Amino acid sequence: FSKVGVIGAMKEEIEKFHAHLTDVKETVKAGVTFYEGIFHGQPIVLCRSGVGKVNAAVTTQVLVDTFGVQAILFTGVAGAVHPELSVGDIVISTDCLQHDMDVTALGFPRGTIPYEATSLFVADERLRHLASQVSHELFEGRVLEGRVLSGDQFIANRDTVTVLHSELQGACVEMEGAAVAQVCSMNGVPFVVIRSMSDKADGSAHVSFAEFTLLASEHSFRIVEGILRRL
Ligand code: ADE
Repeated sequence: FSKVGVIGAMKEEIEKFHAHLTDVKETVKAGVTFYEGIFHGQPIVLCRSGVGKVNAAVTTQVLVDTFGVQAILFTGVAGAVHPELSVGDIVISTDCLQHDMDVTALGFPRGTIPYEATSLFVADERLRHLASQVSHELFEGRVLEGRVLSGDQFIANRDTVTVLHSELQGACVEMEGAAVAQVCSMNGVPFVVIRSMSDKADGSAHVSFAEFTLLASEHSFRIVEGILRRL
């Protein structure tokens, strides 16, 4: 890829990339700052989308239209949904779904976007494979390839986690990935989401999130850095 978009939602999730970026050119569009530069020899466009699906969707479309990125990597933290995941572990997206899309009142299954061909946005095979390779080489914790669930909600409830796992087969839950994934799919741009667990999305999620976001961001950074080095 001649140019790759790298998105994180929060400052903690992109600052390590920023520190290693050279020949930086800054552009502000739709209120988001985009940093074009070279990262370990690879041209990238780095940005902090802000939290939530709308921020993520707008940022992704700008990366495609204004910067012409040929692939998008999302890096950051998430709440663990799969029971085998612990804080610090990694999820590589196989596909992404918006868990808060709810038109069940009209008979659509939970998570289904009505009148669309699909609601499940599939990550790029090559990027996934590369992410998996890099993770197993660079990382000692557990690495799971699975479904990333996104919604405009910070999940901090054990019963909700159980439902997200049993009903929607989620591996982790966050607030941007599926929006990025949908916009990428709409534009035919390959993507993969890399998330490290900051919490278990249970009653203590807010405490764990505050304590472990920096550590988890670092884990996700290392994987995405490894991918970028090999593109
Ligand atoms: N990002 C990190 N932890 C999360 C949680 N529990 N819910 C939603 N997004 C998250």
